[in-house]
Amino acid sequence: MAITIRDLAAWKAAGTRFIMLTAYDYPTARLLAEAEVPVLLVGDTLADNVLGYPNTLPVTMTEMLHHARAVARGAPDQLLVGDLPFGAYQRSCADAVDNAVLYLKAGMHAVKLEGGGWVVDTVAHLTQRGIPVMGHLGLTPQSVNAFGGMRVQARSASDRERLLADAHALQAAGAFSLVLEGIPRDLAAQVSRELTIPTIGIGAGPDCDAQVLVIHDLLGITGHIRGVAPKFVKTYADLGDTIVSAARAYADDVREGRFPDDAHSFH
Ligand code: KIV
Repeated sequence: MAITIRDLAAWKAAGTRFIMLTAYDYPTARLLAEAEVPVLLVGDTLADNVLGYPNTLPVTMTEMLHHARAVARGAPDQLLVGDLPFGAYQRSCADAVDNAVLYLKAGMHAVKLEGGGWVVDTVAHLTQRGIPVMGHLGLTPQSVNAFGGMRVQARSASDRERLLADAHALQAAGAFSLVLEGIPRDLAAQVSRELTIPTIGIGAGPDCDAQVLVIHDLLGITGHIRGVAPKFVKTYADLGDTIVSAARAYADDVREGRFPDDAHSFH
């Protein structure tokens, strides 16, 4: 049965923890659906994990939609969330609606956008028009230049208060869930206790209602390329090493005349 935002609300009410993973392509979406991952995020981390950009800022709506359609074909029954990339909602509520509509037409069921304060009106604008919105607070990567790097956020008392107020404002504006990224564990716990919508943590400790990871980090692809995985990532597979070994083994077999052999030939 298809997962909806009502399931997430019920899991929060019942204290049932769940996960979200990023997905950017058809085969991964199919595999994650087979693994019964309930929520898939076509994240703007498409930029650095798949397209080779240095951070999430360069990726465009056109690029995001291309991958969103592939994920929708692979996992139509999961709850699919399209991440609004940098530039898709910063200028006006009208831009946000236009781009969210494109996502829903591409098979997404909801959109995600980053920030508090100034974004609250946009969230209200979208939800009033029947577009479910996932919020995102804390270390919001689209603000990497404003932060002066990817650093843990909301460490001071005033920043903590602002984040807490933003979380409540996003919930009041109609957000159905909230990603908390790169903030102190106790603050994430407090937000999760106070909100009635589920919080989804990444680098925010274990007390969120749900957790999210970038699929390439979980599979050991990103860590392999970068040489290190971020502190908050647990790597569950070493696909980076597996891919390199498989490509080397194939090359060795061809070089030594072991492949293709008769069993892999037509007669
Ligand atoms: O784009 C993304 O992958 C995200 C997750 C890390 C939450 O926003």
